[in-house]
Amino acid sequence: MALLQVENLSVQFGGLKALNDVSLQVDTGDFVGLIGPNGAGKTTLFNAITGVVHASAGTIVFDGKSIKGMRPDKIALCGISRTFQNIRLFPKMKVYENVEIGINRIAQYNMLEAVLNTPRKRRLDRETHEHALRYLEQVGILQYKDSYAGELPYGIQRRLEIARAIATQPKILFLDEPAAGMNNDETRDLINFLRALHKQTGLAIILIEHHLEVVMELCRDITVLNLGAMLAHGTPEEIQNDSAVIKAYIGERRNKFHA
Ligand SMILES: Nc1ncnc2c1ncn2[C@@H]1O[C@H](COP(=O)(O)OP(=O)(O)OP(=O)(O)O)[C@@H](O)[C@H]1O
Ligand SMILES: [Mg+2]
Repeated sequence: MALLQVENLSVQFGGLKALNDVSLQVDTGDFVGLIGPNGAGKTTLFNAITGVVHASAGTIVFDGKSIKGMRPDKIALCGISRTFQNIRLFPKMKVYENVEIGINRIAQYNMLEAVLNTPRKRRLDRETHEHALRYLEQVGILQYKDSYAGELPYGIQRRLEIARAIATQPKILFLDEPAAGMNNDETRDLINFLRALHKQTGLAIILIEHHLEVVMELCRDITVLNLGAMLAHGTPEEIQNDSAVIKAYIGERRNKFHA
């Protein structure tokens, strides 16, 4: 059974069909890509699966259970974690605190224990802190732990978002344009980092990315959306040679595939 099975999903914003009959399957440990031009519906698909927007039709089954219509926090607890196209960190909080917040979502003690600052609460806080540091180390930014998130270089903020997302120990990670705004060297670093992360954790990952080389290198299975609909699905080779994809999406940018 697939880890995530999305079937015939549609999302409507007023008169706009942002998603129309879209299906997607992700197995445990898969690394799949989701590409398509601006406005294709990629982020909307993430939003619909994570419960942020309402799907008007279709089914979403995760880990054997229907999650359609569930609240976003409940869906997160099922083991789905994500980063955002527009980075969403707490800029005035320290780097380690940003990760602790992710962990605390799945914790732990009640209000009374917090007010009384019981030994159990102090122990849990210490464990959360150590846990956060481990994830910062895993994404290679431990040296920034005491900086304020808003003061970090952009690429490091993107890593911090990934640390926060994986600190909840999800079964699947959704990455929405992690290479946005990165130069070639930073993009290359990100590819190596994501490959290593995937290998180490065995996490299933869905990656949205406009930097096509990232998707082509990392993903064996790619879905292409265009104007809310599925345009193609296949291996990087199949996608690169698909005439509908070339026509609708790549056009004059075809050389990007062969860079
Ligand atoms: N909350 C919303 N309310 C109304 N329209 C929306 C909403 N979210 C997205 N849309 C519209 O739905 C369509 C799909 O948007 P979406 O953000 O999913 O595209 P995308 O493929 O992620 O594009 P990009 O590559 O630019 O991030 C767009 O036309 C967008 O304007
Ligand atoms: Mg988007």
